[in-house]
Amino acid sequence: MSYKPLDPSKTYLITGAAGFVGFYLSKKLLEKGCRVLGIDNLNDYYDVNLKHARLEQLKPFEQFTFLDGDISDKQTIEAIFNEYKPNVVVNLAAQAGVRYSIENPDVYIQSNIIGFYNILEACRHYPVDHLVYASSSSVYGANKKVPFEETDFVDTPVSLYASTKKSNELMAHTYSHLYKIPATGLRFFTVYGPMGRPDMAYFGFTDKYFAGKSINIFNNGDFDNDLYRDFTYIDDIVEGIERLIGKPPVEAVPHKVFNIGNNNPEKLMTFIGALEKTLTNSLGREVQFEKKFEPIKPGDVPATYASTDLLQAAVGFKPKTSIQEGLQKFTDWYVEYYKKK
Ligand SMILES: NC(=O)c1ccc[n+]([C@@H]2O[C@H](COP(=O)([O-])OP(=O)(O)OC[C@H]3O[C@@H](n4cnc5c(N)ncnc54)[C@H](O)[C@@H]3O)[C@@H](O)[C@H]2O)c1
Repeated sequence: MSYKPLDPSKTYLITGAAGFVGFYLSKKLLEKGCRVLGIDNLNDYYDVNLKHARLEQLKPFEQFTFLDGDISDKQTIEAIFNEYKPNVVVNLAAQAGVRYSIENPDVYIQSNIIGFYNILEACRHYPVDHLVYASSSSVYGANKKVPFEETDFVDTPVSLYASTKKSNELMAHTYSHLYKIPATGLRFFTVYGPMGRPDMAYFGFTDKYFAGKSINIFNNGDFDNDLYRDFTYIDDIVEGIERLIGKPPVEAVPHKVFNIGNNNPEKLMTFIGALEKTLTNSLGREVQFEKKFEPIKPGDVPATYASTDLLQAAVGFKPKTSIQEGLQKFTDWYVEYYKKK
């Protein structure tokens, strides 16, 4: 369960550095004195101002270099690896979101498949100590066996987003096998927190409340068979990534996949109730959402539930933040950032 601490003499390339997870990971590495190269294409899938606001917090660090670029552009990636020769690569750049993959599939192939392939090729030609990359809990599809274990069958994804993430795991395995690239895939489970992603439900519900609109809940209105989600607070995700960076696989094929989830799924309605409560605390007045119940959306899955046994065995850590604690930090941030008080 030992892992190497971050090494300030090394260069860490983080793709998607202006994104939610990429920003927090970059910040943590910079605070520990590491040199961080961040790349992001700053696309407008959600409010670009939020991406700029995150970058503003990284820019004061002397050890931070930001590159405005696209991982699906092979020449750009080749030039970056040639110039900077990163020691550790954390690939977080991707088109995220299950529902948007039904609307705009092209961008998922471009960023998640071609982009990831370019990263693998670059790691082949400019060897790295460790390639860590984001997969997703969505690879489990409609898996009924809980908790979800890394050894479960994940060959029946129910969205194109999930297919691209599962494909990343297959591609990484092949590159590890052929070129001995130490690689670790991370299956994140619904990450949330301050400066999070506006396309995610907890953020959207909060936006709707302040816009005076009702919130749409896609759980069929069936509370006995509510959806379950394993919500994972951002700091726990970052702690998990940091530890796993220091634990490159050493097997003959040096590729491994880990869940990073809370190991404690909540009913969607419990999560929404907690959000109302923390928003009430942040504002100092009673908040109740006006709710509309709708059928589950295509591509959505009924439950996610992470086993964290492998993570614990490898790096002695499992996420620990409760939704009350995590959501309070989110609503406090939201109320201040959007000046709602
Ligand atoms: N947040 C979650 O709940 C969650 C859950 C499972 C998996 N993931 C995965 O974790 C990673 C990080 O997610 P996030 O929540 O921070 O998402 P995010 O959208 O906030 O961050 C991704 C960043 O990558 C950038 N990007 C997208 N395509 C790019 C490209 N082709 N070239 C360069 N930059 C590009 C975007 O501009 C964005 O800033 C993603 O791979 C995502 O699929 C996230």
